[in-house]
Amino acid sequence: RVPMALLNDGHVLPQLGFGAWQIDNAIAPEVITSAINAGYRLIDTAADYGNESGVGTALKRVRNQFYITTKLRNEDQGYDRTMRAFDASSARLQLDVVDLYLIHWPCPQRRAYVETWRALIELQKQGRVRSIGVSNFMADHLERIMHETGVVPAVNQVELHPAFQQRELRNIHERYGIVTQAWSPLGRGAALTNPRILAIAERCGCSPAQIVLRWHFENGTIAIPKSANAARMAENIDVFDFDLTSDDHAVISRLDRPDGRIGPDPATYGQMGLFRGLTRRLSR
Ligand code: A2P
Repeated sequence: RVPMALLNDGHVLPQLGFGAWQIDNAIAPEVITSAINAGYRLIDTAADYGNESGVGTALKRVRNQFYITTKLRNEDQGYDRTMRAFDASSARLQLDVVDLYLIHWPCPQRRAYVETWRALIELQKQGRVRSIGVSNFMADHLERIMHETGVVPAVNQVELHPAFQQRELRNIHERYGIVTQAWSPLGRGAALTNPRILAIAERCGCSPAQIVLRWHFENGTIAIPKSANAARMAENIDVFDFDLTSDDHAVISRLDRPDGRIGPDPATYGQMGLFRGLTRRLSR
């Protein structure tokens, strides 16, 4: 039901997926099972979400074809650490092969993301990861790994929603054939109360979430909305039988704002692990 996106490595991914952020490990088997029943085939998790084993339990139950994304924690950057962290992730997921493995944040201050990227390239060579990519990378981080290794990521997963549209970055992705994935595609729900979006929803006879997710799809972006509610899960994947007009696109395009970011700034984020370690040491 969900159309497929072609990646620059020849593999494919569903054009819409289910985001497992903030899904507690204890309820993950049940939530992921209902997402799969609702028709989701792409499940997005991360070591940092603490729910890989719960996601793995759900995936073990289904015989359907699915695509699983997981991400390397900031604390595990560096060549050897990445190799060990991947072993741990694939063990928790109970999978020999992961469809898409991403570096979660660049953490530029640590200067480890190029070595980390080399480890992902090796994991792909070994056949343990089908596709490799990054998350929250800005233009300079992308250019650096591509320049130093010659390997272009298949995906960059970034914060992207109507209030924060990342046009410049999307142009760079297009230039290199990198697929854009959108986290918090609904702006953590904020986009759903916008009067312009509500007006389009009313005209189309669908929900504001469907308008926003259709907008992502028509932009060629893979959105990974999350919902713990079965009805909203079903609503969010039911976006493949209507079209937005070019006027709708023009209207949504004007909702972009310079201060629209709701998550951390990738230029400075990622020192937390270090600080956490440091305070632990200091308090001991
Ligand atoms: P819930 O889990 O109760 O459905 P984002 O993916 O942009 O971070 O947004 C996720 C938030 O939006 C969650 O709080 C989720 O709440 C809510 N949400 C997800 N889908 C819908 C929907 N179709 N309608 C209203 N709220 C939604």
